Amino acid sequence: MLYFDHAATSYPKASGVGEAMQYYVSQIGVNINRGVYAPAQEAALETYLLREKLSTYFHHDEPTRVIFTAGNTAALNFAIKGSVGKDDHVLVSSMEHNAVMRPLVQLGVDFDRVPCDAEGFLDVTKIESLIRPNTRLFVLCHASNVCGSIQNAAEVGRLCKLHNIPLVLDAAQSAGHIPVDFAELGLSALCVPAHKGLLGPQGMGALLLSEDFAAQLDPLIAGGTGSMSDSEELPPYLPDRFESGTPNLPGIYGWSAAMDYVNQIQTNRRSHEEALCRQFLQGLESLPTVRLLGTRDISRRVAVFALDFMGQDNAEISDRLEREFSILTRCGLHCAPSAHKTLATFPQGVVRFSFGHSTTAEEVTAALTAIASLAKTP
Ligand SMILES: Cc1ncc(COP(=O)(O)O)c(C=O)c1O
Repeated sequence: MLYFDHAATSYPKASGVGEAMQYYVSQIGVNINRGVYAPAQEAALETYLLREKLSTYFHHDEPTRVIFTAGNTAALNFAIKGSVGKDDHVLVSSMEHNAVMRPLVQLGVDFDRVPCDAEGFLDVTKIESLIRPNTRLFVLCHASNVCGSIQNAAEVGRLCKLHNIPLVLDAAQSAGHIPVDFAELGLSALCVPAHKGLLGPQGMGALLLSEDFAAQLDPLIAGGTGSMSDSEELPPYLPDRFESGTPNLPGIYGWSAAMDYVNQIQTNRRSHEEALCRQFLQGLESLPTVRLLGTRDISRRVAVFALDFMGQDNAEISDRLEREFSILTRCGLHCAPSAHKTLATFPQGVVRFSFGHSTTAEEVTAALTAIASLAKTP
């Protein structure tokens, strides 16, 4: 099996993840913030250490403002629904995932999509004219899950600061792959999944908050936190205010091990993924009937490629890639109809190849050979 769907989830996970989860389940197994016995203290410490690892990794300033969620979608829902009221206006890019679009539509709030060009890059010059007096939030997909374009988040952050609009960054496809600097980008909130570039388990994510944004954010769920148990109100302090209920402790142990591995491989990771991008792009150059959506500029993309097999059914190609070559890709619209409309690939969709830390040059060669054999002769 040749796995080219790292944008959906990373596989294999970082070494040590399975062992850490197994260790928690078989050797620890207890809850945190409830009993004060030794294994509970150990699990609580591991939980805090993961907050610290994430806060440090993303150049964020306070581990207690790292909130664990059930995934990136949950983190985005918390940030959007906890901060936007029905009379507010929201700005997004036209490349957003449905994890952003569906909460906005469900809330019924007014929003504008800042247009992106045919390669999926945000036109930052259009932002200011779309800002209204009631613009409450900007939500930005950092790197596209369809075609890999990396947005100029620093410039969006600068404009948001100038107009006093909180910026929420969806780093689903950038976290782990390229630097994401909470402080430098001037973020109010950063949403990350554990299971993609951070190489941890599914079912976990985190919402990293600035002090100001945290103070204004409403918790979406309420319940027991093991703290202030004399009160029927949520504690005012973090992380408890945003983490009611028993946390995903096997996930926390697994993600914590994954972050150690991510830190170990960090130095060479981007250059490895860039080399794979270069090799793939060069290989595609000799295939005129395979259209690449998105940029050829490696410095402005992550290793997520949208391919259109011209004159053929892209879903059938994806199916043949698996049946004939054991190559796993994802076809269709990738939960991002707005992005596909921007790239003019809606509703037919594309075949998406995405690479990760474990992808090798030999695998990319095999992918190019398979693509060449399935592409129409010009
Ligand atoms: C850009 C983007 N945002 C949000 C999500 C949602 O992440 P999750 O499915 O991990 O909740 C994804 C998942 O593919 C994504 O690619």
